[in-house]
Amino acid sequence: MTPSPMRPGRDCPLSYRYPPASLRREAEIVSDAIYVVGGLYGNVEALERVRSMAADEPGAALVFNGDFHWFDVSREDFLAVNGAVLAHHALRGNVETEIAADDSGAGCGCAYPMDVSDAEVARSNRIIERLRDAARAFPSLRKGLGELPMNLVAQVGGARVGIVHGDASSLAGWGFAHDRLADPAHRRWIENAFRESGADLFASSHTCLPALRTFDFGRGEVAVANNGAAGMPNFAGRRSGLLTRVGLAPYAGEALHRVKVRGVHVEAIEIGYDHERWAGRFLAAWPEGSPAHDSYWRRLSEGPRYALENVIAA
Ligand SMILES: [Fe+2]
Repeated sequence: MTPSPMRPGRDCPLSYRYPPASLRREAEIVSDAIYVVGGLYGNVEALERVRSMAADEPGAALVFNGDFHWFDVSREDFLAVNGAVLAHHALRGNVETEIAADDSGAGCGCAYPMDVSDAEVARSNRIIERLRDAARAFPSLRKGLGELPMNLVAQVGGARVGIVHGDASSLAGWGFAHDRLADPAHRRWIENAFRESGADLFASSHTCLPALRTFDFGRGEVAVANNGAAGMPNFAGRRSGLLTRVGLAPYAGEALHRVKVRGVHVEAIEIGYDHERWAGRFLAAWPEGSPAHDSYWRRLSEGPRYALENVIAA
């Protein structure tokens, strides 16, 4: 039987999958504090801000959990993002995976659910094509992106942290999306993800909307921390990115939300980047009428229709 062709931007390639049990391994990162930065999306200003936040906390490790590239189609920005990110811990998201390879038929690799419109999916596929074209100038960097791991394991005090881009079993999975985390029908899947992986905390991204939820499956509280986007606004009327900090001590500054897992602080921290500079950079690369402008300009200027309370509530 001939397999049906992939629907670009909708289907999840088989190569994106991994068993949750593969996270049962020695931690690659051991630190008193980690900053998990998912979905930077080529925002150079947010990158600068994150690096300065981490530098203020000596010993803290920066971990970029995928989709650090996206809007950075200019040569200068692509190199700036790639160089800075790879100086730290990094794993690949669907964006890096898809630009590292030639067109696999997966489009942007987002595996978008059906509530995302066909028009938006088509625009994302056009963005990835343009970004891949920009990346072709740097074959060795493309190869390096393709060789990044799909997940990382960190140990922060008594907490084992599974750091993923999508969810516990797929690089582009939506199992840690805010609405799935609140869905009783999805609870068994989440419980299995924790049991099989041995993680106390999952730090994820990919779905572009943040969530921080705790669960108790009978062996103490565990949590999923989805940072939404580091490089795009996450709430209506707030022009800032978001990261997940996991630390033995709480963050010295303000946290939007915080929970505790195995005695370790898990916090949603705002990334207050220079919006005006970022907007200028974005518009230079993606003017009105471009696919990124059509899909994202409104969000970059006004934020998504998502409230701060949604992070911890259904
Ligand atoms: Fe993604």
